Amino acid sequence: MEPISEFESRLKERPLPQHVGVIMDGNGRWAEARGRTRIEGHREGSNSVREVTRAARRVGLEALTLYAFSAQNWARPPEEVAALMDLLREYLTRERAEILDNGIRLHAVGALDKLPAYVREPLESLRAESAGNTGMTLTLALSYGGREELLAAARALACAARDGALKPEALTEGDLEAALWTKGLPPVDLVIRTSGEKRLSNFLLWQSAYAELVFTDVMWPDFRALQLCEAIAAFQQRERRYGLTGAQTQGQT
Ligand code: IPE
Ligand code: IPE
Ligand code: MG
Repeated sequence: MEPISEFESRLKERPLPQHVGVIMDGNGRWAEARGRTRIEGHREGSNSVREVTRAARRVGLEALTLYAFSAQNWARPPEEVAALMDLLREYLTRERAEILDNGIRLHAVGALDKLPAYVREPLESLRAESAGNTGMTLTLALSYGGREELLAAARALACAARDGALKPEALTEGDLEAALWTKGLPPVDLVIRTSGEKRLSNFLLWQSAYAELVFTDVMWPDFRALQLCEAIAAFQQRERRYGLTGAQTQGQT
């Protein structure tokens, strides 16, 4: 089999997705299939986060957004939510040096005010400390929901209109984008979902309007550098038409 470094180099010869979003699903099933607790699955999943982030940086992605905890995940059993929050804190502490040493800019999207202070504080501190970094932007979607994000944007725009700062009839796509939590991030080109489910589960609903979708049966704890490369290679085979005909897309109008 081709060494992973060669696979990664080969990907750079063709246009890369600028921004990849990942729905990291299947930790629980991965663990249950091995007679282990769901929490152990989440722990193993955090090793995948580290490996995939490293590989994304080596390949040269501009932005990687990881769906780590959804707005709906708050309704899971309290012990599981607590364990996920503990793991998040552990992740932020453990990865701090690597993120800073590698020029990664850490960012977060979601209803972050709902996170416990012991997660919010290390998150905000690493976000502030890495804000000037110019390498890859790593965004954690935490307490995130696409509908919740669109609702917050609608509310902010309605308030701006009420206060006279915005003319409703002049509202543009750009204004809406600027009111989203993902403001400033490049357009999402590729969304990957692990674990065999074929749905978006409230992830980047507006942003993924024209993203290519890659679904894999691999459970998140088994998704590593190789699987990321395979998903990017699949993306590179796609023809993105944006509503045009195939001939138009290939420049033969
Ligand atoms: C993804 O794995 C992690 C989170 C949603 C927090 P799951 O915990 O959803 O794993 P499955 O889908 O139950 O296997
Ligand atoms: C989506 O996974 C959310 C994250 C990966 C953080 P879920 O496991 O929560 O999604 P559903 O419930 O299967 O749609
Ligand atoms: Mg799941």
